[in-house]
Amino acid sequence: MSEADQPTTAFTPRVFSGIQPSGGLTLGNYLGAMKRFVDWQARDIETIYCMVDMHAITVWQDPAALTRQTRELAAGYLASGLDPARSILFNQSQVPEHAQLAWVFNCVARMGWMQRMTQWKDKAGKNQQNASLGLFAYPSLMAADILVYHATHVPVGEDQKQHIELTRDIAIKFNHDYGVDFFPVTEPVIEGAATRVMSLRDGSKKMSKSDPSDASRINLTDDADTIAQKIRKAKTDPEPLPSEAAGLAERPEARNLVNIFAALSEQGVEQVLAEVGGKPFSEFKPMLADLAVAKLSPISSEMARYMQDPAQIDAILRDGAERARAIAEPILHRTYEIVGMVGARV
Ligand code: TYM
Repeated sequence: MSEADQPTTAFTPRVFSGIQPSGGLTLGNYLGAMKRFVDWQARDIETIYCMVDMHAITVWQDPAALTRQTRELAAGYLASGLDPARSILFNQSQVPEHAQLAWVFNCVARMGWMQRMTQWKDKAGKNQQNASLGLFAYPSLMAADILVYHATHVPVGEDQKQHIELTRDIAIKFNHDYGVDFFPVTEPVIEGAATRVMSLRDGSKKMSKSDPSDASRINLTDDADTIAQKIRKAKTDPEPLPSEAAGLAERPEARNLVNIFAALSEQGVEQVLAEVGGKPFSEFKPMLADLAVAKLSPISSEMARYMQDPAQIDAILRDGAERARAIAEPILHRTYEIVGMVGARV
């Protein structure tokens, strides 16, 4: 039995996650992903965070804008508290093993699996024939992002759950087809009060950087007045806040604002409602606006500071890419060996 065929069920715990540099960062990205990346960094576990620029180009990106947005995302990571000495921070295109493993996974994953992805259906819309092949294969590259590090934990927002399930399917099929126990069956980590931050204008829609209405979202680059104004204008209902979470069940807008408050103040929803239950929105909204400004303003000013020194950002990403490659390269070459590719040097 070669080393590659040995069962390797005991995987070292390792966290991987990524964000697309495809536009501005929203409060949804911050609470659903970045803030939780920082929490994982504080634990005794290796953390690897990526700017997935190759995923971004599955839909058209202006080249200069992509460069700026990648640096801005890196600045957002750093400003939120990610420390390049403790976490590996890099952009995906600089670690070619992602694309190389994705090709192997393209040959493992089935067309039908990809066709079922809701993100594919949403993004390709009615004109699937005109969507890029990359957009269709997107989840296979995402599986490669995760599995090229043998990552065991992937903190994401609710909207990425289906992609992580597909990553698990790819790992299981690869292991089965080749008779190995080589790739871990990765856990999505979807936890906290803000795994699905909703639009401020419509509690049934996800807060998104691509929503045409800027009032629907809080951007990490918004100034204090803009944040306060957007919260003041957020859609609500006429009732005062309930004192228990069950009272939010049929009130999506109220639930969203309470969830945001809970996540920003690092409390549970019940704890928040114990404090604000019975208050009308005219009292709660200014409390939320003050909290959001207090938490987000330091991040946006730090981001602006980092953006003044792109060379520093680029150096951090280069160093991160080197460290990431040191982990990814042997895993890719072991994969090639398992597949039977001559020349694999492991
Ligand atoms: P992306 O760039 O759309 O979003 C990045 C992260 O932010 C979370 N998120 C939200 N969370 C809560 N509420 C919201 N309104 C909200 N909007 C966005 C997303 O769930 C995500 O965690 N395919 C991924 C990027 C990716 C990736 C990966 C993630 C590529 N490879 C490997 C994890 C592991 C994406 O498009 O995320």
